[in-house]
Amino acid sequence: MADRPASELAFTMAHLMLPKDGNPMGFVHGGVVAKHIDEAAAVVASRHARCMVVTRSFDNLEFHNHVEIGNLLILKASLNMVGTTSMEIGVRVEEEELTSGRINHIASAYLTFVAINEEGKPCPVPQAVFTSEAEKRRNKEAACRRQKRLAKEPCS
Ligand SMILES: CC(C)(COP(=O)(O)OP(=O)(O)OC[C@H]1O[C@@H](n2cnc3c(N)ncnc32)[C@H](O)[C@@H]1OP(=O)(O)O)[C@@H](O)C(=O)NCCC(=O)NCCS
Repeated sequence: MADRPASELAFTMAHLMLPKDGNPMGFVHGGVVAKHIDEAAAVVASRHARCMVVTRSFDNLEFHNHVEIGNLLILKASLNMVGTTSMEIGVRVEEEELTSGRINHIASAYLTFVAINEEGKPCPVPQAVFTSEAEKRRNKEAACRRQKRLAKEPCS
């Protein structure tokens, strides 16, 4: 399998937030945002692996701001790291206020996807090439997160 440039996999998805996406406070439900994060990340993982992928982990998700109904939810997903059968995908979540054009940072999330074969067992994925300074930085940070994740460090 040939190594694939991470830059080719960067993917942006946008959804108009409608009343059906709201919580009782009238803002967008956190679970709706989480679902869209998982979907955007799954696209990047699937495009890289070109086989079935499943979400193995979803690092803790912090919301810096709420999202208003009527605004655009923008999800920018990128491949941060490749293991043997797993991939870390980072997703930056933004809200575009459609009446002003203002962009608000809502959350950043890191997900690990595993490629699986027809028996549902992990299978190898191609390696990736990280070229730009931003890609190299994200790759280095992802390696650190992977180490912590797999170590399952106890809370102190
Ligand atoms: C994905 C699955 C097949 C992997 O099985 P597994 O027994 O964990 O397999 P392995 O131990 O060989 O690990 C597979 C990969 O996951 C990684 N991994 C293991 N634990 C992890 C964790 N807590 N977080 C992130 N990655 C992890 C391993 O490092 C390995 O990656 P690598 O090959 O790049 O090193 C299995 O866990 C599964 O089916 N999980 C359910 C997935 C799912 O249904 N998701 C949707 C939920 S609704």
